[in-house]
Amino acid sequence: MPGVQKVLFVCLGNICRSPIAEAVFTHIVKERGIQNKWEADSAAIGGWHVGNRPDHRARETLKNHSIEYNGRARQIESDDFNEFDYIFGMDENNISNLKEEAPRNSKAKILLLGDFDPEGDRIIRDPYYDTGSAGFEKCYQQCVRSCKAFLDNHN
Ligand SMILES: *[C@@H]1O[C@H](CO)[C@@H](O)[C@H](O)[C@H]1NC(C)=O
Ligand SMILES: *[C@@H]1O[C@H](CO)[C@@H](O)[C@H](O)[C@H]1NC(C)=O
Repeated sequence: MPGVQKVLFVCLGNICRSPIAEAVFTHIVKERGIQNKWEADSAAIGGWHVGNRPDHRARETLKNHSIEYNGRARQIESDDFNEFDYIFGMDENNISNLKEEAPRNSKAKILLLGDFDPEGDRIIRDPYYDTGSAGFEKCYQQCVRSCKAFLDNHN
């Protein structure tokens, strides 16, 4: 019987998209009663926001959907590429950053989260510089669809 599978969600700063994705994934896993099979975390490509809580709009989006999140930003480390089974990027530039950073022959499969979206919305645009919060809600919906579809295909 396989052990726990670990997934890491990665975006530029770990304060908008990737914490939403992590919180959504963990929430779905609990809803489905499969928390003994999956563990999730998130991390940043860059170190600008290390130690910070997510952007207030990301926190509000999660709160609006009654999803808890207590994580703080951290930067991805080379060990992560062997610690995690799956590493999800949010957009294509950042996927190529991750592939460059991955040590040779590391374990993690590096995937684009949006590739699992049944509606085909592949790129999770960074809503950080938006003035409003609509981009955060859209990001949340994309994460819900993609995480559900990923879990449907990997159970
Ligand atoms: C949260 O819900 C409130 C009330 O519906 C809404 O005004 C607000 O824009 C939502 N926040 C986000 C970040 O989506
Ligand atoms: C991806 O990450 C790099 C930093 O490594 C950044 O310069 C770039 O803007 C990011 N791409 C997007 C679309 O966020």
